[in-house]
Amino acid sequence: MRTHELVGRDRVLADLFEAVSAAGERGDAILLVGEAGIGKTACLTAVAALAQDAGYPLLRTVGSEAERQLPFAGLHRLLRPILASTATLPDVQRRALLDAFGMHDGAAGDRFVVSIATVNLLSQMSARHPLVIIADDVQWLDEQTRHVLAFVARRLGTRVVFVAAATSLPQLRELGDGFRELRLNRLDVAEAHRLLTRLAPGLDPGQRQAVADLARGNPLALIELAAAPPTLTTKDCPIPARISLSPQLERAFAGRHHELPQSGRDVLLVAAVASDASLPEILAATARMSGGRVGPEVLEPAQQLGLLSFDENQVIFSHPLVKAAVVQKESISRRQSAHRALGAVITVSSLRRAWHRAFGTSSYDDVIAAELEATTAASIKSGRAGAAILALERAAQLSVSPAERGRRLLLAARQAARLGRPDEVDRLLQGVVNSELSEFDRVRAELLHENVGGVVITDSLRVTHLCALARRATAEGERSLAVELADAAVRRRCAAPVEAPALADMISLAQGLWRGSSEARCVAVLALADPVAHGREVISALEAVDERGITDGEELSAYAVAARAVGDYTAAVRFLDRAEVLLRERGLLGPLARALCVVADLQLEVGDWDRAAAALAEFARLSVASMSVSHRAAAMATTAKIAALRGETAAALELVSDTEHSPAARSGSRYLARAQIVRGIVGISADKHGETYAALRRVFDPMDPSHHFREQFDAVSYLAEAAAHTGQQAQARKMLDDLQLVADRSGSPLLQMHLAYGRAVLASDDTAEKLFLACLASEAASLPWQRARVQLAYGRWLRRQQRVSQSREPLRSALTTLQRLGAVKWAAEALDELEASGAADEPGSNTGSPHSLLSVQESKVARLASQGMSNREIGQQLYISPRTVSSHLYRIFPKLGISTRGQIAARLDELYLHSDSR
Ligand SMILES: Nc1ncnc2c1ncn2[C@@H]1O[C@H](COP(=O)(O)OP(=O)(O)OP(=O)(O)O)[C@@H](O)[C@H]1O
Ligand SMILES: [Mg+2]
Repeated sequence: MRTHELVGRDRVLADLFEAVSAAGERGDAILLVGEAGIGKTACLTAVAALAQDAGYPLLRTVGSEAERQLPFAGLHRLLRPILASTATLPDVQRRALLDAFGMHDGAAGDRFVVSIATVNLLSQMSARHPLVIIADDVQWLDEQTRHVLAFVARRLGTRVVFVAAATSLPQLRELGDGFRELRLNRLDVAEAHRLLTRLAPGLDPGQRQAVADLARGNPLALIELAAAPPTLTTKDCPIPARISLSPQLERAFAGRHHELPQSGRDVLLVAAVASDASLPEILAATARMSGGRVGPEVLEPAQQLGLLSFDENQVIFSHPLVKAAVVQKESISRRQSAHRALGAVITVSSLRRAWHRAFGTSSYDDVIAAELEATTAASIKSGRAGAAILALERAAQLSVSPAERGRRLLLAARQAARLGRPDEVDRLLQGVVNSELSEFDRVRAELLHENVGGVVITDSLRVTHLCALARRATAEGERSLAVELADAAVRRRCAAPVEAPALADMISLAQGLWRGSSEARCVAVLALADPVAHGREVISALEAVDERGITDGEELSAYAVAARAVGDYTAAVRFLDRAEVLLRERGLLGPLARALCVVADLQLEVGDWDRAAAALAEFARLSVASMSVSHRAAAMATTAKIAALRGETAAALELVSDTEHSPAARSGSRYLARAQIVRGIVGISADKHGETYAALRRVFDPMDPSHHFREQFDAVSYLAEAAAHTGQQAQARKMLDDLQLVADRSGSPLLQMHLAYGRAVLASDDTAEKLFLACLASEAASLPWQRARVQLAYGRWLRRQQRVSQSREPLRSALTTLQRLGAVKWAAEALDELEASGAADEPGSNTGSPHSLLSVQESKVARLASQGMSNREIGQQLYISPRTVSSHLYRIFPKLGISTRGQIAARLDELYLHSDSR
């Protein structure tokens, strides 16, 4: 490895290089100390390369475990290249040296004379050129060599640089004070992530974090774990995760395990599998396992090998991977007996006891299985779904009855889906398929399968069947399953139209569930089932929800879905903002991916397209192959829509075609409707209003396969624009009138807004202004994208009425927002209008918004920092290191013209206010 490839070692390397460079004038003896895998050999290699580049002679030795008992073996390795020069030594010294190496028939060499002889040899060698000596793995050098090297280091004169390296072990004291010590510490978090990015750029953020957590800044561990990242399930488990280590890692972290006496191995194993570092507990369990009295002294050999340290209270491993390496070295039966012993002595925690008991047996045991399953509720509640999965899977393995086994595996698979781990869901479901299941569990398994990539059957018969099952589940007290089934039914209604009887059945089911409970999922089910008749009811129920008191991200997502369904986008954004934070915190990547889909949809309408695009990009990252086909199709359609709105026509059309050919589109008119809307927007951008009108009309036509009840709401405003351009006002007005009845009934703020906009755009000159003003005053006009379009249309209308100076203000305001969004076509129109009004855009008028000042990532960092988050918290949210966060802030401050973090919030407010009100 070249030196510039060593991360975080600049200071140490500079020190070493300085020593070598100055070798002409003065000698130096340096001892590099650090744990296994920390980079000692890598640093020595760098020193050797430098010496060779400088043309200095170089001598090297390295300790080896096999030769540790052979006197002077290490010294022999060092001096072998220059043994011919021994001829110049005084006879006694020469003989002593050759004796030491067994090259002479005398007795073993006298250590003192051998040392003198070595010093003389090295001095001779350095007479003409500075000499560099390197000794690696000093802890494994034979005792005699260590003494000679200590002696040499104390007497080295000028012109010799001696660099030795060792893990920190007690034997090193024998080297004495001839060396100055340079410590190689673990890499810090940012350095570790830098190395990981280089080693494995494709690692997903979760895996990268898991590797970094495990490696704790040890480069060897980072390299090896990055090559074979551990599965994440075992994170957060009460008992240490079983991680499979490469032979290199096993050797590095427990290489000398075999040197321990039996009692030392026992206690080390117990400590390695223990769920707590408590010394009394570990000793009690070791005593139980080995059947005798055990005191703290049994830990001393392991301490001497540098594997751990301990005091009266606790045992601390020198690195977490030591535990994994120790466990890997032991047999299954010994690991189980250590767990059993711990299970027997733990009295303080039923959770830990259950885990140890469960991993201490390999026979079926319903009692232990039930105990373990009982711990999962607490694990899930405290956000440790990974622990719950492992517990449930283990409980399944221990279950006597096949039905119980299936039930537990299914529960585990459901948790895995929440964590967004499709491979694990598949694996667990595979086990479920081979088990006997109750009827309800079979339904649960089917729903789960649909959610992680399966095709969803959307026909009315299936809807009716799901509703019937939901009713039965309610009758049998399985309320949660009933809500889940109702949810599955209404989602089908969202994807494609269902026949009237099935729809009526579903709505009555949703009403029944809602009357039974106002929990978030029931609100969402009702809102999706019947956003019109129950719209107002849902909106007022949502008004009563205080999201700040809710800590369950899935609950908030359900509220957001409900709010979006009834057109209350302001509430939906509020719920989702918080849901996103909570889901991330808990690592619930499954629900997070679904929430991101909704975020993208919402932000598209609201007017933060960067955020919408970022949400979609993250969705794609999180859900490769793990999402239901409908979510994937929805995300594709939204991506197409952003592209179309931003004028990226080719990309938009390609995505539209993908959407139309996706499996979801085969059974869901929703995706066809969305595709038509994108085609409509593309038409507007190309001034082909006739095409736009034709494409969008299909969404409103119940006989057309692209018709979709809910999607037509989002098409209204574009339809009206196209109609106004093509003289189809009367026909369009009629379509709007029909929808007005729906809007009035449902109370949907967004639909009201779209209709108001549509009517204003289609109105005759004598009524238009009133309509525009009413539109601007409406609640949904606080959403930037919506407002900008009204402002643009109003400004254009004013200008056409020759009220040129009045037109400028709305046009300017629209232009700023539209430029910020990147709504190319609309911004160009606003600019044209402004120019036509004689007020060419003032210089710099579009540079005042945060979005035009900051990059996407900087905007995100600024937004989170303005909410009072620390760099670490921001880093966790965005999966970047705290150091990167601070470098973003470093760039953000001057851009925003501020100098402290505390000023960000006020400055952002100021900028948004200006950019939106101008
Ligand atoms: N700072 C670093 N940046 C990048 N790679 C590193 C760094 N330090 C070490 N490595 C790599 O990590 C691996 C382990 O390093 P190295 O063998 O030098 O460790 P060591 O301290 O000598 O360990 P041991 O005590 O087991 O001999 C090597 O592949 C090395 O190239
Ligand atoms: Mg080494």
